Amino acid sequence: MAVVASFCMSLDGFVARPDDSVGPLFDWYTAGDVEVPMVGYPMTFRVSPASADYLRSFLDTVRHGAFVCGRRVFDYTHGWGGNPPGGGAAFVVTHQPPPSDWPASHLAPFTFVSSVSRAVELAVAAGDGSAGVSGPNIAQQCLNLGLLDEVRIDLVPVLLGSGVRYFSDLHTDASLEQVEVVAGVGVTHLRYRVRYPQS
Ligand SMILES: NC(=O)c1ccc[n+]([C@@H]2O[C@H](COP(=O)([O-])OP(=O)(O)OC[C@H]3O[C@@H](n4cnc5c(N)ncnc54)[C@H](OP(=O)(O)O)[C@@H]3O)[C@@H](O)[C@H]2O)c1
Repeated sequence: MAVVASFCMSLDGFVARPDDSVGPLFDWYTAGDVEVPMVGYPMTFRVSPASADYLRSFLDTVRHGAFVCGRRVFDYTHGWGGNPPGGGAAFVVTHQPPPSDWPASHLAPFTFVSSVSRAVELAVAAGDGSAGVSGPNIAQQCLNLGLLDEVRIDLVPVLLGSGVRYFSDLHTDASLEQVEVVAGVGVTHLRYRVRYPQS
């Protein structure tokens, strides 16, 4: 059980282009022959055997947990059509009200919350104690607040040159302990446990 952030990142540290598109960062999702269904969201990865093993273990980690995301990624994905990745409850960190046409929470299990720490608290309580975090801004705030247990990076060997950085405003003494490195096709999966000075 852990609070985990996982992003696809370019070798020069970007998770999206300046226009928010991910460009080649998701190419490895379809670079192989092994099918891995996403949990909670209608999409299937087709990846190398090594990436498939890595993905299955990650999806097992978040399968019974909830999901925290930032408002920009929520808006960019149109709230995943009401189906949050992971299949559990989702908590959107935002200063804004939900979109006016957003369905009631029993139809789309999203709750809009105005604080990062409250969103993580609610997510951990809603699931089995684990939670996935999306939206690099929110993931970074979680790191600054000492709330993130695990950082996962799918490192893609491309140079974007500019765009949205994963880590752009860090204020933390946390250190990273390597847990796993997996070489896939067109991607290297990196998994780190976050260690905070007081822990
Ligand atoms: N490569 C990958 O794996 C990957 C995955 C997901 C997303 N992305 C990329 O990530 C980008 C979006 O992420 P982002 O980091 O820009 O934004 P984000 O984390 O999704 O959301 C940031 C927004 O959340 C709200 N917010 C942030 N902190 C808050 C706080 N403390 N209290 C209340 N509300 C708060 C604000 O919106 P309001 O003030 O408007 O409410 C803020 O603009 C896109 O470019 C997307 O393509 C990449």
